[in-house]
Amino acid sequence: MPILFINACVRPQSRTRRIAEYLLDRLSGETETLTLEREPIAPLDNALLERRTALLEQGRFDDPMLRYARQFAQADEIVIAAPYWDLSFPASLKAYFEAINAVGVTFAYDAQGVPHGLCRAKRLFYLTTAGGPILSDDLGYGYVRLLCSAFYGIADIHYLKAEGLDLPDADVEELLRQCCRQIDRLLSETPS
Ligand SMILES: Cc1cc2nc3c(=O)[nH]c(=O)nc-3n(C[C@H](O)[C@H](O)[C@H](O)COP(=O)(O)O)c2cc1C
Repeated sequence: MPILFINACVRPQSRTRRIAEYLLDRLSGETETLTLEREPIAPLDNALLERRTALLEQGRFDDPMLRYARQFAQADEIVIAAPYWDLSFPASLKAYFEAINAVGVTFAYDAQGVPHGLCRAKRLFYLTTAGGPILSDDLGYGYVRLLCSAFYGIADIHYLKAEGLDLPDADVEELLRQCCRQIDRLLSETPS
């Protein structure tokens, strides 16, 4: 599966999804889209955690519960679109990472307890849009970046954003066009 598009956008008129679609149109290969709000991904409670731990300990990696982790591990390229919510991203994306953070599927620990990636993807794009300015570092992107590099072993991670979309004088279409130009520049500098 060449490209996995993880769509954490919520609103039907999502601007974040628009810039992600602009990017996807310019990447080569088939895209498999995972729209998180349509998926039955619950935060891990004790019952889910115990069930998953048992599956992983028994090496039952083909269980349906681990399908999202398998899908992530098998993708050649990953695109994540997530609006900037409460200084990070919607909770559905955190629940998704809980679901895919499966030892033996997306990563493994070495004897020293250091994680090593088991994922095929070499490149990941994280796209966001914000109503105001993105304060300090984007905590949501920082989390995704560290998780995907340290745990999943994805080396080439890119961040694309449009800020200030909900400010009173914002020219939203121009801000989105600027982000699309940022995408064009990135792709011309780092062809796949
Ligand atoms: C629940 C929620 C939380 C938000 N939190 C922030 C925030 O912390 N900072 C900010 O600048 N904008 C915030 N916004 C505004 C969004 O970042 C902005 O409207 C963004 O473009 C939404 O993306 P979308 O068009 O893809 O839905 C928030 C919006 C919502 C609905």
